[in-house]
Amino acid sequence: MKRLQDKSALITGSARGIGRSFAEAYVREGATVAIADINIERAEQTAREIGPAAYAIKLDVTDQASIDAAIAEVERRVGGLDILINNAALFDMAPIVDIPRSSYDRLFAINVGGTLFMLQAAAKSMIARGKGGKIINMASQAGRRGEALVAIYCATKAAVISLTQSAGLNLIKHGINVNAIAPGVVDGEHWDGVDALFAKYEHRPIGEKKRLVGQEVPFGRMGRAEDLVGMAIFLASPEADYIVAQTYNVDGGNWMS
Ligand SMILES: NC(=O)c1ccc[n+]([C@@H]2O[C@H](COP(=O)([O-])OP(=O)(O)OC[C@H]3O[C@@H](n4cnc5c(N)ncnc54)[C@H](O)[C@@H]3O)[C@@H](O)[C@H]2O)c1
Repeated sequence: MKRLQDKSALITGSARGIGRSFAEAYVREGATVAIADINIERAEQTAREIGPAAYAIKLDVTDQASIDAAIAEVERRVGGLDILINNAALFDMAPIVDIPRSSYDRLFAINVGGTLFMLQAAAKSMIARGKGGKIINMASQAGRRGEALVAIYCATKAAVISLTQSAGLNLIKHGINVNAIAPGVVDGEHWDGVDALFAKYEHRPIGEKKRLVGQEVPFGRMGRAEDLVGMAIFLASPEADYIVAQTYNVDGGNWMS
């Protein structure tokens, strides 16, 4: 029995990385998935590769008109939205004294504003439809504890954990579960960029930071996107109906809470 049979999902930032793995897993479980990404060419390619149950939507989570159009497109194509994953995010780092205001503005606009206003638009659509729904926000171990060089990104992910709590408490009366996943360090294109920034600020060779963070994971290696799909399927399934406003660490043991 497929666990998400005939469900309609939208995953932000799913043209690549973790979001793409979630989309593949959801399709395997019977869902139809909107690959909603600012990089529409890559989203279209990803949707083609996944197959007919995936379709691409151009989405900029910082733009309200784009958010509203994306939700309307899902309603038009498949009749409504059952599952939203707020997955799109941007990473940056710098010592406190070097942080440019532009980096703060951009990261908060995407990681926090994008999460809140996507969640709001999805919730409005789900409430109007009257069938409840599941909303999963991508937090991070970075939201559990600050890091010397990663102030803004850590603050945005702490905000995602807090928004998950408030939205979870506010929306459960409509049968909408809002929960979050906090990954640790997950290898892929995202971490290639993180590694390059650590190389710059900590004067390391490329690849060294990845090796070190992987060694430090109690499980013994960096995460892979596939390590997260079990939790993403579970939180979207009826088995998670009684789970409200929680953030789950899926990080090989890096953080315990
Ligand atoms: N990779 C990790 O180690 C890690 C660890 C903890 C948490 N996370 C979180 O998991 C999520 C996915 O991470 P990933 O590693 O797959 O990231 P990624 O950088 O590989 O993918 C992010 C996607 O978001 C899209 N995007 C960027 N700005 C957008 C916008 N304004 N509107 C719509 N789409 C936009 C990008 O085009 C890209 O496809 C993120 O929320 C990230 O913070 C990742």
